[in-house]
Amino acid sequence: MIVLKTSRELSIMRKAGKISQKALRLAGEAVEPGVSTWEIDKIVRQYIESEGATPSFLGYSGYPASACISVNNVVIHGIPSKSTILKHGDIVSVDVGAFYQGFHGDNAWTFPCGQISEEARALLEATEKSLFLGIEQARPGNRIGDVGHAVQGYVEARGYSVVREFVGHGVGAKLHEDPSVPNYGTPGRGVRLMPGMVIAIEPMINVGKPGVKILDDGWTTVTQDGSLSAHFEHTVAITPDGPVLLTALD
Ligand code: MF3
Ligand code: CO
Repeated sequence: MIVLKTSRELSIMRKAGKISQKALRLAGEAVEPGVSTWEIDKIVRQYIESEGATPSFLGYSGYPASACISVNNVVIHGIPSKSTILKHGDIVSVDVGAFYQGFHGDNAWTFPCGQISEEARALLEATEKSLFLGIEQARPGNRIGDVGHAVQGYVEARGYSVVREFVGHGVGAKLHEDPSVPNYGTPGRGVRLMPGMVIAIEPMINVGKPGVKILDDGWTTVTQDGSLSAHFEHTVAITPDGPVLLTALD
């Protein structure tokens, strides 16, 4: 069931989104060689709580931290740890959600740690671009397949692959609502987008093959072939005037 949001609810979601985005930026500023992913998680948690919000992921299905921090071949759901120390040349995907006055915001970004390889730089650029091409399709009258097709077409034309096992989602009073938002699809297919819908668009893009596997901790999701992976996400409201980013600062 897709829950449409009223304009009053959207203004609360805008605040949840703003807190999520600020937390993500603080995490990005903390990314540097020698820093542990546990330290970055602590920065995220302290900021979100200082705003009177709670971290959306903490305790979600038993998830043990506030952020997911996924380095290099880790696609998503990397668990912050004192023993994961960032190194020069890493790419670091940080995923953060904040729950504020009954609603969630959800966003992610992949940050370079120091100087990164040309292969890594090009992956980040293409994945970020694909997110914004997907967002551009998130308007009334279009369908979910238009969003996924925009992402898939752009990245596959550059030789990258789209992760299939994990997808974007509706966002609202629950972190994960209908509809599912795959990063692949057929134009003109799938759920029709309507004003009041809020979706998280979140391409997860691999340099190598699309396959992933989940490690024994039940969360950490890595590329099967060991290749680099990037993840960018925004929470987007569908409005009569087109897409509006909720996870943005002013
Ligand atoms: N942004 C991710 C998602 O949309 C984060 C979920 S991590 C979890 O699914 F811990 F909350 F599961
Ligand atoms: Co999400």
